[in-house]
Parts: sequence; structure tokens; C-alpha cells
Amino acid sequence: MSDDAARLSRRQLLGTGTSVGCAWVLSSRVLEAGLFGMQQKGGSQMAFTQPPLPYAMNALVPYLSEEQIQFHYGRHHAAYFRNLNALVEGKPEAEMSLREVVKKSSGSVFNNAGQAWNHTFYWHCMSPSGGGEPKGELAAAIDRDFGSFQQFRKAFSDAAVTLFGSGWAWLASDADGKLSIMALSNADTPLRYEKEPILTIDVWEHAYYIDYRNERARFVEGFWSVVNWDFALARFKGRTGPEW
Ligand SMILES: [Fe+2]
Repeated sequence: MSDDAARLSRRQLLGTGTSVGCAWVLSSRVLEAGLFGMQQKGGSQMAFTQPPLPYAMNALVPYLSEEQIQFHYGRHHAAYFRNLNALVEGKPEAEMSLREVVKKSSGSVFNNAGQAWNHTFYWHCMSPSGGGEPKGELAAAIDRDFGSFQQFRKAFSDAAVTLFGSGWAWLASDADGKLSIMALSNADTPLRYEKEPILTIDVWEHAYYIDYRNERARFVEGFWSVVNWDFALARFKGRTGPEW
């Protein structure tokens, strides 16, 4: 796909304004472009652009307050993009996709690129119409690999709550669709282990400090009321694509 075609698709995707769900009919490559923002090359434009939230700042109330999202998306997530753009200006990474930078970089560039990518992914893992249980082939794979949804839910929550320090709990898939839970520190991601992210929760304290203070377990428990299984299922189905 040409860059122009991808940009057009992105405008179409973002222009819907109502539902990211309708985007699943697009190819996974176009979907990635829509979720993570095409790079804007040339001139004084920054290499990487923070994509818009897929819902309003207050859409996840009462799980997450508007203030919590304002700080997390508007301060923390935005800062990772700002830092990354400053770090890669005039360097080869500025011409890569964000995913490429995440997979190939190290040090401060990786830390900021990873956090930029991880947060964009995280926002889509929640939805004001979320909750419930997984569907379709993802539900079957969870039953196969964890015994039951309830056993998976407990294992994922335990991984998120017990992760020492800052990081992310992930549900990830290998190329064959085998699922695993990964508790990874700081900006680390399954992309670095040749696995595809399916679902994640951010357990950096900045993700919950306004609403939950130090109560990570309560923050993790609430995640299940907004979890976006439609997004997770789409990611699971798309795992074998060339860019996924
Ligand atoms: Fe965060």
C-alpha cells in the first residue's frame, strides 16, 4: 500500500468519529496506520503523532475519571511522543514506523517509543461499551490455553497486581495463536519477543494514582468492566498478517 493510500484510509478511519469497530473490515495494515498514526514526513512536522483517544475523556467514568484520563493521555502519553520526536529528529528512526522503532531501538529511544506504542494500544483495550467475556476464536483459545475465562482472568489480574514496580500486563499470541500472559517492566512489550499483543493493562502508578491512589488491585479489578473484547478479538485474528 502506498503512503498516500494509507493516509487516505486513516482519514476515513478517523473521520468516522464514532466507532473504531467499523475499521475491522479494513486490512490490518491500514488498521495499524489508523490506530498508531502515519508518520508525517518532511518540513518541520514531527516524525510521530499521538493518535486521538478512541472515546471522550469522560467515557470510562466511573472506572476512570476525566481527570485521570486527562493526565494519563494528555500529560504522560503525550510526553512520550514529544520526547521521542526530539530524540529521533534527523536520525534514521524518524523514517521508520513506530513499530519498527519499538522492535529495533534501545535506551531512551526505545523507552519513549515503547511507551508511545503501548499507550496507544492500551486506550483501545478499553471501551465505554466494554466488559463481559471474550468471543469467537479468542474465547476458544483462552479456554484452550488457560482452562477457562475465569482462570485466565485471575492469572492476568494476578500478573498485573504483582508486577514489581512499573510496567504492563499483556495477553500475547505467538504466530500459531498460542496465548500467554506476560508481565513486563517499564516500556517492554511482546513485540520484542516475536509475539503479538492482544490485550494489555498499564500498571504504571500514573495510570491510576488520581482515582485509586496506591490501590493497584482495585484499579485492575475495574478493568474488567470496560475491557474491549472486540478489539482483542480483532488483534487475535490479525496476528498472522505481514505487519502483525
Ligand atoms: Fe501509562
